[in-house]
Amino acid sequence: MIELSNVSKTYGSGESAVHALKDVNLRVPKGTIHGVIGLSGAGKSTLIRCVNLLERPTQGSVTVDGQEMTRLSGSALNQARHRIGMIFQHFNLLTTRNVYDNVALPLELMGEKRSVIKERVLPLLEMVGLADKAQQYPAQLSGGQKQRVAIARALASKPNVLLCDEATSALDPQTTGSILELLRDINQQLGITILLITHEMEVVKSICYRVSLISNGALVEDAEVGDFFTAPVTQLGREFLNDFLQLTPPKELLERLEAAPGPATHPVVRLTFSGDAVSTPLISRLARDCNVDVSILQAKVESIQDRTLGLMIAELLGSEAQTREAMDYLQSHQLQVEVLGHVQRTS
Ligand SMILES: Nc1ncnc2c1ncn2[C@@H]1O[C@H](COP(=O)(O)OP(=O)(O)OP(=O)(O)O)[C@@H](O)[C@H]1O
Ligand SMILES: [Mg+2]
Repeated sequence: MIELSNVSKTYGSGESAVHALKDVNLRVPKGTIHGVIGLSGAGKSTLIRCVNLLERPTQGSVTVDGQEMTRLSGSALNQARHRIGMIFQHFNLLTTRNVYDNVALPLELMGEKRSVIKERVLPLLEMVGLADKAQQYPAQLSGGQKQRVAIARALASKPNVLLCDEATSALDPQTTGSILELLRDINQQLGITILLITHEMEVVKSICYRVSLISNGALVEDAEVGDFFTAPVTQLGREFLNDFLQLTPPKELLERLEAAPGPATHPVVRLTFSGDAVSTPLISRLARDCNVDVSILQAKVESIQDRTLGLMIAELLGSEAQTREAMDYLQSHQLQVEVLGHVQRTS
């Protein structure tokens, strides 16, 4: 288990101080995969580096598997770090060492015997699918293969926790998928707790159970992945979701959108359906019960874990009173209704 309690981290001091983490509380139960998502500069790397004390928090405590990391220093801290593996965006392999020797390095530093090292390294190379590449050098490997070496190296000291700092950000989508699959196998087969940070919703969707959203050093959301993808509670969460779903109004429509309703305008709305609302014929009821016609501009259905999420951008055609009633009707059926603006009636 990983627990951060009231963790703050400030770089520098005085006028140039950067408050990279502000009173962060996070609990990652043993054996789960937890994602932290946020924009560039939000504090993701700082947060993950505070877990193994590559950065020491300015305030607060960090506990990993019952051991309070923030109380440790020197050799006790080094010992505790053996239980925490870490992988990075740019792999951080030693270019002068071959694959086998890169994976063996942490064991050499721990003073393990050659025979013990061999017994540990070979099965790890097997596990990450690189048994035939043991004698190759990093320059001879693809990005995905390099990350597999880094994963094997991170697992060499038999950690309980694996920290992943943008581990797939330098990889193409297909390779990303195969690395995420490997991380999921590691989580399931070895029971290793994984904390990963990313700026990609796709990564969160494919492998995490829970996700936290970090903004300007503060955790602003913490939810199960299904909940976060169907009902983010902050504006930033909604922006991440909309970017991921790529459901934005056509440019031509955006140009015609007016913020305030006028005497002859229709509202353009973004509807988000989840749960029972996905399988209910609400749009036809809107026409029948509220006398409002719906012109669908864009629509999409996504499956996220065990949930289904429906999205639609639509123009509601009717009088102001009718369209208001229609929106109330939709909201009362658990649809999220966001008015994007108003367009002039064309007919
Ligand atoms: N060693 C440092 N010294 C001073 N400021 C730092 C240091 N490391 C990070 N920062 C600052 O702390 C803030 C958070 O940085 P951090 O690297 O944690 O963000 P991030 O979310 O990982 O961003 P990215 O997605 O770009 O990697 C930023 O304003 C950054 O400039
Ligand atoms: Mg970072």
